[in-house]
Amino acid sequence: MSHQFIQVRTEADKVGVITLDRPKQLNALNPELMRELGQALKAFDADDAIGCIIITGGEKAFAAGADIADMAKLSFADAYKQDYITRDWETIRAIRKPVIAAVSGFALGGGCELAMMCDFIIAADNARFGQPETKLGIIPGAGGTQRLTRAVGKSKAMDLILTGRMMKADEAERAGLVSRVVAPEKLMEEALGAALAICGNGRIAIVAAKESINRAFESPMAEGIWFERRLFHALFATQDQKEGMDAFVNKRPAQFKNQ
Ligand code: HXC
Repeated sequence: MSHQFIQVRTEADKVGVITLDRPKQLNALNPELMRELGQALKAFDADDAIGCIIITGGEKAFAAGADIADMAKLSFADAYKQDYITRDWETIRAIRKPVIAAVSGFALGGGCELAMMCDFIIAADNARFGQPETKLGIIPGAGGTQRLTRAVGKSKAMDLILTGRMMKADEAERAGLVSRVVAPEKLMEEALGAALAICGNGRIAIVAAKESINRAFESPMAEGIWFERRLFHALFATQDQKEGMDAFVNKRPAQFKNQ
């Protein structure tokens, strides 16, 4: 499938890599880009050969936000009727395989929100995160007030969103927004290494772990613990559990069949 605003490739036959590709606009997000991204994610999610997905951008920008030139023309009626830009974001939430954001440069506004919709963020040390929407007379619209607050706490989320300032990669790592920070030239290597480590684990366990971690954000603790326990016990019905434990006991590498 040909795309206008993204590039899609596969690494090591098992990692799907989606590169945002609107460099002149610093990968500013528009509805068409989000539609293409959603399609590419769904295709990788449905492909049995793929075990993990990476979303990345360019060196200068992961994405500098929703396209301001597009938004400048919108009325409330337009934005509301079109469910402007955010409709296709729901696709990202529905992806069951792990999605890693590999962020270099600016991840601002919708770009920061896109990174936060991924399961975890690996950042280059030149990364800059922020939600500068209030400088434009709007507020974050794709989960920024919710996900950033859960990731970094109320005080820092208020600071970032109300002032519109940018946060460097080291501050983002200290705050818990990103899981690892590496040199820009090592970013893809690091993200691919993480993706391949995930692919080496049992796929059913990976999907169950992702679902269970997400429960921590979407339900009360008791409900989440109950959900985790049900899945934990259920995994003893898989061949992968037999294989993983037999391999450990017999001191050999596990060969998961994702069954
Ligand atoms: C459209 C953008 C853009 C954006 C950059 N560009 N960000 N175009 N929408 N969000 C364009 C610039 O207009 C410029 O085009 C080119 O990219 C290079 O940008 P410069 O500003 O010249 O680069 P630089 O001086 O290095 O500054 C980089 C920057 C700045 C700090 C990232 O571009 C910036 O502040 N951008 C806006 C960031 C922002 O406010 N994001 C939040 C948007 S609101 P030309 O043609 O002049 O070369 C949002 C709401 C989300 O995301 C809602 C839910 C999805």
